[in-house]
Amino acid sequence: MSKAPDTAVEIHPLIAERWSPRSFDDQATMSDSDVVAMLEAARWAPSSNNTQPWRFAVVRREEALFATIVESLAGFNKEWAPRASAFFVVGAEFADAEGKERKTSDYDTGLAVSLLTTQAHALNWHVHQMGGFKAAAIQGELGFNDRTKLIAVIAVGRLAPADQLSEELHQRETAGRRRVELSDLVVHGLPTL
Ligand SMILES: Cc1cc2nc3c(=O)[nH]c(=O)nc-3n(C[C@H](O)[C@H](O)[C@H](O)COP(=O)(O)O)c2cc1C
Repeated sequence: MSKAPDTAVEIHPLIAERWSPRSFDDQATMSDSDVVAMLEAARWAPSSNNTQPWRFAVVRREEALFATIVESLAGFNKEWAPRASAFFVVGAEFADAEGKERKTSDYDTGLAVSLLTTQAHALNWHVHQMGGFKAAAIQGELGFNDRTKLIAVIAVGRLAPADQLSEELHQRETAGRRRVELSDLVVHGLPTL
């Protein structure tokens, strides 16, 4: 299923065709080289002063820790996310080892995740980020230090047909994608085509 939107002008297919599904193939497994490719893409993101504050924990569906992460998920995330092939848990180190604050660590980490997501899509994986999870339940167990704020659990999987989803999730899965207008985002300098 493609959910590529109408765009004001043509944009790169890797960007246009990315979307966040909830129906994943629960038999699909991820190769080590695909895991490393996603992490490597994130690694090369830009960051303030090249501080590279992003931190990741990768947990495959086959691992016992996967169930621990599922347990930490909020609400309906618990219903669909267990079919993902892996979770990439992402955190931002908001202070360095000397305790100096890194003011842009969330922003930098978002940039890294954006590249991870694009690389995943290039390898035919779909990514669905989740802010709905209890960080305290997994932070220590996954090995993040206490200078790191967990930001998201990212479910990565192969897309599967929407009909395995409950009625409510099926509706969301097949609905069109929406965005605010460019004219609402750009406060100055939007060209008229
Ligand atoms: C930081 C962040 C947190 C999110 N949290 C959740 C979540 O907890 N559960 C969920 O189903 N989707 C979650 N999403 C997915 C968004 O709802 C989704 O990206 C948005 O609706 C746009 O849809 P698209 O990615 O298909 O274009 C999250 C996305 C981001 C970036």
